[in-house]
Amino acid sequence: MRVLVTGGAGYIGSHTVLQLLVANHSVLIADDFSNAKPSAVTRLEELAGQSIPVCRVDLTDEAATLALFDDAIAGGQPIEAVIHFAGFKAVGESVAKPLAYYRNNLDTTFSVLRAMDVHGVRQFVFSSSATVYGENPVRERTEDMPTYATSPYGWTKVMVEQVLRDLAVADDSWRIALLRYFNPVGAHASGRIGEDPSGLPNNLMPFVAQVAVGRREKLAVFGDDYDTVDGTGVRDYIHVEDLAAGHVAALERIGLRDDALSVWNLGSGHPESVLEVVAAFARASGREIPYEVVPRRPGDVDAYWANPSKANRELGWSATRTIDEMCADTWRWQSQNPNGYPD
Ligand code: WQD
Repeated sequence: MRVLVTGGAGYIGSHTVLQLLVANHSVLIADDFSNAKPSAVTRLEELAGQSIPVCRVDLTDEAATLALFDDAIAGGQPIEAVIHFAGFKAVGESVAKPLAYYRNNLDTTFSVLRAMDVHGVRQFVFSSSATVYGENPVRERTEDMPTYATSPYGWTKVMVEQVLRDLAVADDSWRIALLRYFNPVGAHASGRIGEDPSGLPNNLMPFVAQVAVGRREKLAVFGDDYDTVDGTGVRDYIHVEDLAAGHVAALERIGLRDDALSVWNLGSGHPESVLEVVAAFARASGREIPYEVVPRRPGDVDAYWANPSKANRELGWSATRTIDEMCADTWRWQSQNPNGYPD
């Protein structure tokens, strides 16, 4: 299929683009490069052994988004499906800049859906997040749990999921997948593409990697007084290559399903604590990871992980890589690219 990948130059988008090409789909990347570098696409083309069409576009601009679809038709390669990654994703930043987050994450989605509707394109895979489960006392998350959020970023995911549910009810010709990611980490085994956060990393794995490579002095461990195996926060880390494979599986399966909308957790189902991740990274890198325990981060919950059985069953997919492999692949990327992608 000809797949439009919005945010395709980003961390999860780029890994998914590569797997789509390997699965013999053709890809068009749309990205505004607000949180990605063009050199990421150059690396992708090197790995894919082919050039990859890219459109630098602001997807909040509905006319420009429509034109993207029109141009694809004029070029003889009409868009047949969309995987929608484009969006802002920093929880803390969303608290400081709620309007920017609501506008960007909702308007980009509305523009793409409007263009799809006009052109009769109905297969849509949405990058959602386990953050939509909010704070639930049941630590193992299942897709039937209620959704709500504890940050504007999380609310944008909850709201888009609701828009998509209503769309599926109104027009059952849509084939929509809501993919709820847990904690994506790792990098392609080549070490040529990976996670390249701008500024101070919000997330654990890139911060640990930057400590290991010498860019940061030490890790701040946000609290060790949680009711968990060692007192530190517990999460479900999933290798980005497993996550990308989940997207390809969802894209290929939704067209065969009767449901207009499907929801799947994409997680490993194997929880790890902060200190367990730190120990795994030290093993993988051979580097000490200095850390200091500091007070809890506001908004953090103690522990949650995926029940991935629905995706295992319905997508024929499962996360296969261990935390040690996630750390080894992260380290290969980080040590080969200590400052991330070149400008
Ligand atoms: C993991 C654990 C922290 C950094 C967030 C978003 C979620 C998704 C993934 C987009 C927690 C601890 C972290 C650090 C630490 N993003 N930690 N020191 O918060 O589970 O999820 O990213 O979809 O929506 O909410 O990920 O990597 O920030 O934290 O101790 O410097 O590591 O307290 O226990 P999180 P994280």
